[in-house]
This record gives sequence, structure tokens and C-alpha cells, in this order.
Amino acid sequence: MCQEDLAQVLRHLPKIENPNVIFGFDTVGDAGVYRLNGDTALVQTVDVLTPIADDPFVFGKIAAANSLSDIYAMGATPITALNIVGFPTKLDMKYLEQIIRGGMEIAEQANVALLGGHTIKDEDLKYGMSVTGIVHPEKMITNDKARPGDVLILTKPIGTGVISTALKAGKASAEAIEQINQSMISLNRAASECMVEIGAHACTDITGFGLLGHAAQMAQASNVSLKIKATDVPLFPEAMNCIVAGLVPAGTKKNAQFIRPQIEIDPAVGENLSLLLCDAQTSGGLLISVDSKDAESLLKNLHERGVTEARIIGEVISQQEKVIYVVDQ
Ligand code: CO
Ligand code: CO
Repeated sequence: MCQEDLAQVLRHLPKIENPNVIFGFDTVGDAGVYRLNGDTALVQTVDVLTPIADDPFVFGKIAAANSLSDIYAMGATPITALNIVGFPTKLDMKYLEQIIRGGMEIAEQANVALLGGHTIKDEDLKYGMSVTGIVHPEKMITNDKARPGDVLILTKPIGTGVISTALKAGKASAEAIEQINQSMISLNRAASECMVEIGAHACTDITGFGLLGHAAQMAQASNVSLKIKATDVPLFPEAMNCIVAGLVPAGTKKNAQFIRPQIEIDPAVGENLSLLLCDAQTSGGLLISVDSKDAESLLKNLHERGVTEARIIGEVISQQEKVIYVVDQ
């Protein structure tokens, strides 16, 4: 579902009135937080994907890492998970076994107890997890506290959408596929721990609405505007070639259309890079808003903890006419 449709639906639903719901879907986050007591809150999220890799084991890993991402984006620790599977009867059960094995491997890596799950017959194959995490209610990180003067750090390169579209068309190199798979299966755990340690102000993970879509949600929730330096955004090496070759997912085009009125793009950035900044991501990185005095040490910590692709991509400014200003350099 695109951002516009989702906003339409949510607008018509009643607001949740419960004092223990300390972060819910009216703030357009995709995880909710429920306070259990003074020092523990539950963070809950769910995400399901259709296959994005040919290998079922790899797909299982990607879907699991993707499902865990919203928990990490809130600076929380995932503790339990349940599998959700949609499975076509025509598929071999061995395929399902490989998917679940992939999910289990990631759950183990994340130190998450996989408690069970549910499988339904479905036309298309789908897999994901519902994940529960815990966080101290005063230490949770949300997308609504970015402050003017903050620096923006993105922890993974952009381009999984266009490269998987190239993969489906048989036009992605083995190297490009390996690069996105490695990135999509890597947990945002280290990035999350680093931002919690340093006391980052706000965070969101980059998934279906693309970098600019999720960045805009963060800006609007925080009542600020953002300045993003297009040439500083880390990209997968073959992502630009995919855009040039027209291998662009429908979701990416929708994202670009939806975001257009809210942003101002320096013409020097060009159509192709602008579109890539809207590319629908799967299991993307964290976009972290951090005090400028802490930005360099956060970046250093991220690199030391193996989040080697993390880059400073822009800054938070006071609220202006546009939500995001994309500058060339
Ligand atoms: Co999500
Ligand atoms: Co998210």
C-alpha cells in the first residue's frame, strides 16, 4: 500500500485512547509502544514480505531481519517473535522449511526466542514475523524528536528496490545481488545499540516508502525540515545503472510521485538520483538524527561495530515551507 492510501485509511479510524499506549499509529510509526510499568515498555511490530530473493533460505533471513528492524529503530531490544506464513499449496514443503530455517537463524543471531507462528494457504508466498521487544519508557527512540541543528546519519546504502527489480528481469549481476542480500540480512542491531549509547534524538528505519518518504515522516512528526545532500547518500554500486535502464519498481515510482509536493530538489541532483532517493527499500538501514556534537563519534562507533556503510547525509533545520530540501552537494 502506498503512503497516500495508508494515510487515507488511518485518518478515518478512531484514535486509541489508552494512557499506557505511549507511542501508537497516529504518529505514523510502524511499531507501537505499551508501558507495562515504570521501567519497562513493550514494543510490538509486524511485517510480511513477498519473495525478494530466489533462495528460500536467504529470503527467510531477509524477511526476519526486516521484521526486526522496527524494534531496533526504536532503540529497543527484541525478545520474542512469531512466524507468519502465506503458502501456496502448489509449492514444495521443503521450500517452506528453508524459509523458516532462514528466519530461525536470524532470530538466533538477534537473541530472539521464536515462539511459534501461523501458516495460511495463500495464492502468493509470504513470510514475516511479528516481533515483541522491550525498552525503558524514557529511553525509547521515536521518529518525532529530531531537532534543528541535528546531523542525519544513514546506516545502509540505498537501491535494494531497483536491484531486486533488475534481478526479476534477469538483469542484475551476481555481485549486485550478493551485495543487496548481505545488506538486507544484516541486522540493524549494532546501529541501534550505537545510537542508544550516544543518546540519539530520533530515528526511523528505511523501508517501503524509501529514504525521502521515511525522512519526510520523521520531519513532519518532529515539526522540522531536513536538508539532504544527495551526493552523500550511500548507494549500491549498480543501483544507478538500474534506474538508467528503467528497472524501477512500481512502489518507487509511487513514492516519488507522493513525495514531490513536499520536497524541493536542486535541479543539479538530476531525475535519476532523485528517483533513487525514493527507492522502496527492504530491510533498509536506520536514519538517525543526532546532536551535531555527537555525530562524528557516532559515525566512528558505527564503523567500528561493522556498520561500515554508515554516512552523514544531511542535517535537520527549522521548519520551512518544504519538508525536505535535497541539495546536490
Ligand atoms: Co515496518
Ligand atoms: Co519502520
